[in-house]
Amino acid sequence: MRVSILVFASVALAARPFLNEPDTGIDEALGSTPDGTLPDLDSLVGLPDFEWAARRGMNTSAYTYYRNGAAGEWSYRNNLEVFQRFRLRPRVMVDITKIESTLPTTILGHNFSAPFFISPCARGGYAHPDGELNLVKGAGAGNILYMPALYASKSIEDIYMARVSNASTPQVLFQQVYLTENDTETQQLFARIEKAGSKAIIMTVDSAADGNRHRARRYGVGSADSSYSYLTWDLYHKLSNMTKLPIIPKGIQTLDDARLAVENGVKAFMISNHGGRQLDTTPSSLEVALEIYNEDPEIFKQVEVYADGGVRYGADVLKLLALGVKAVGVGRPFMFSNVYGVDGVKRVIEMLKHEVAIDAANLGVGDLKKIGPEYVNWKSVNGWFS
Ligand SMILES: Cc1cc2nc3c(=O)[nH]c(=O)nc-3n(C[C@H](O)[C@H](O)[C@H](O)COP(=O)(O)O)c2cc1C
Ligand SMILES: *[C@@H]1O[C@H](CO)[C@@H](O)[C@H](O)[C@H]1NC(C)=O
Ligand SMILES: *[C@@H]1O[C@H](CO)[C@@H](O)[C@H](O)[C@H]1NC(C)=O
Ligand SMILES: *[C@@H]1O[C@H](CO)[C@@H](O)[C@H](O)[C@H]1NC(C)=O
Ligand SMILES: *[C@@H]1O[C@H](CO)[C@@H](O)[C@H](O)[C@H]1NC(C)=O
Ligand SMILES: *[C@@H]1O[C@H](CO)[C@@H](O)[C@H](O)[C@H]1NC(C)=O
Repeated sequence: MRVSILVFASVALAARPFLNEPDTGIDEALGSTPDGTLPDLDSLVGLPDFEWAARRGMNTSAYTYYRNGAAGEWSYRNNLEVFQRFRLRPRVMVDITKIESTLPTTILGHNFSAPFFISPCARGGYAHPDGELNLVKGAGAGNILYMPALYASKSIEDIYMARVSNASTPQVLFQQVYLTENDTETQQLFARIEKAGSKAIIMTVDSAADGNRHRARRYGVGSADSSYSYLTWDLYHKLSNMTKLPIIPKGIQTLDDARLAVENGVKAFMISNHGGRQLDTTPSSLEVALEIYNEDPEIFKQVEVYADGGVRYGADVLKLLALGVKAVGVGRPFMFSNVYGVDGVKRVIEMLKHEVAIDAANLGVGDLKKIGPEYVNWKSVNGWFS
């Protein structure tokens, strides 16, 4: 009996444990923070720290809604872990001193200060009474793209009213939608979105059915989009006729669908597995982007490709950009940061901009626009992917 326990223990130790928040000493540094209070915003040093803080600022059911993934959460964990399976190939003796000036980019022709954005996440009110208003204001202050979710805690009108607007250029937002089968309702929703001032419609296509969310079900905080949805390319064309805004499918997970998106005339699409919240064992965006890059790299030039899921560090952003992804979405860290209100949202933007810049510099990338696949060893280690 003792022997078998020891054998089991050694096997368990040999496996690398999954770490939702890798140990960088936050417990030692901030562990004495009293329950129900938040550590000083200035004491947080990276995006994962906001989840640690949010567990103190949110009740268990609200925290669980943000945190949960589908079923056994293999996709959720893989989204986080995939980035460390591909090693960087840093180049040295390169002039990187101007890297910060190369962060600004365009997304569908709109100017932003960085190639990352806030992905659409429902129920911002779980972290802060002002909910999405903090996200829109933070994104405006940091001049990055925000995609408000349809199932927000604030109305579309209130969110767009809170935009930070320079005299000539109002802050750009792309509105996420879920649709019913009632065309009249859809037409009314599109009219409302256009009137509010959105510049694009993000159509979530990875949620044809309710997500199988075990963790969330324990607290009754499952998905609000729980019906079977009619989502086809025929519908896409019909919808495109109902609005002047570009409709961007979010949730492409295969090369096949990436090709179909291009064939069906999208201006952009987003690779996503919904943060691992819909269908467990779906691939991470990095794996899908790699499949597209290997089989049909022209796709990244034909349309704009965005990607999200598990992005927590500057180097994660760089790996997606290296394959040709135009901009990278971040979901949970922004939602958790909202326990600090708009200052938390701004802080995440500053942190990630800084990490993208210093990681690119240490990678030997002097101009972010010139990053390419040669900066990553795409032969996966740890045997997960070949
Ligand atoms: C709390 C929460 C709510 C979400 N709600 C939506 C939604 O309403 N529509 C949607 O398309 N995606 C939704 N997502 C998925 C995000 O847009 C995004 O794909 C995902 O969060 C990215 O992964 P990350 O959280 O690891 O960054 C949600 C994600 C979270 C965490
Ligand atoms: C975007 O930036 C470019 C270059 O700085 C500028 O010429 C252009 O007018 C800007 N576009 C908008 C819509 O502000
Ligand atoms: C948890 O917090 C949310 C958001 O503030 C609130 O709506 C909900 O009622 C709370 N739930 C419990 C069980 O306290
Ligand atoms: C507004 O203008 C200021 C100064 O030109 C600029 O720094 C900021 O990024 C702009 N904000 C938006 C949302 O365009
Ligand atoms: C569709 O939505 C409109 C507007 O809300 C409503 O008047 C109509 O009854 C709905 N049609 C059906 C078939 O439910
Ligand atoms: C879209 O509108 C155009 C022009 O009115 C029409 O020719 C086309 O058939 C419409 N497509 C769909 C799918 O409704």
